[in-house]
Amino acid sequence: MSIHISAAPGSIAATMLMPGDPLRARLIAEHYLTDAELVSQTRNVYFYTGYYQGHRISVGASGMGCASIGIYSYELYTQYDVQNIIRIGTCGAYTTDRQLYDLINVSLSASESSFARFAWDIDDDALLPAGNAFAALNAVAAANGQQLIAAPVHCSDIFYRKTTDLPAIAAKHACVAVEMEAFALFANAQHLGKTAACLLTVSDVLPTHEKISADQREQSLTPMIELALATAIGL
Ligand code: HPA
Repeated sequence: MSIHISAAPGSIAATMLMPGDPLRARLIAEHYLTDAELVSQTRNVYFYTGYYQGHRISVGASGMGCASIGIYSYELYTQYDVQNIIRIGTCGAYTTDRQLYDLINVSLSASESSFARFAWDIDDDALLPAGNAFAALNAVAAANGQQLIAAPVHCSDIFYRKTTDLPAIAAKHACVAVEMEAFALFANAQHLGKTAACLLTVSDVLPTHEKISADQREQSLTPMIELALATAIGL
């Protein structure tokens, strides 16, 4: 038990997939894992542990934003011996160079967030994925002939804003898209010597307002989920 996770000690696997949404965690557990067990549902944030191709894997939600993933990933790394977290999520593309359904492996997470500085005295405004998961995602995608774009991504605390101008931090680091969690995940992993990567599906293209529709959303995330699972079992 940790403050925000009620799983019994030992009931979470060393390698985890982390979508933002608890219902997506449930869907992954029900569709892909065998012998999946619900191990925590504190705050309706579901964590499951089961087997994928014979390998023990957990899947659990991060919630939205750095504050939320900062809490869950810290408790998982420090109180449940989790070694590897692959965040799987969606992002908004900043330019029309990226299209709906593109898969992005975050090579750098740039943020205005004070999370890394105030939590761990890490002064950088851009953090790298930690450990071997980033490279492993690239290798598995290449082996499967799956297109995966490694690129810098902005991690913002803001979803709704006044202007559509490219934020300065995103321009500084040539970010192709925006999401809301990778920076805190990478900061925790860097501080704790753990592994973290972030795989994203482009769900909206900000300049054109194109979006993956609600009914397409579930199916459209399948390539990302399958790549994350295939990579997770090799870590
Ligand atoms: N902003 C932040 N996160 C996102 C977005 C966005 O526009 N789209 C999908 N995730």
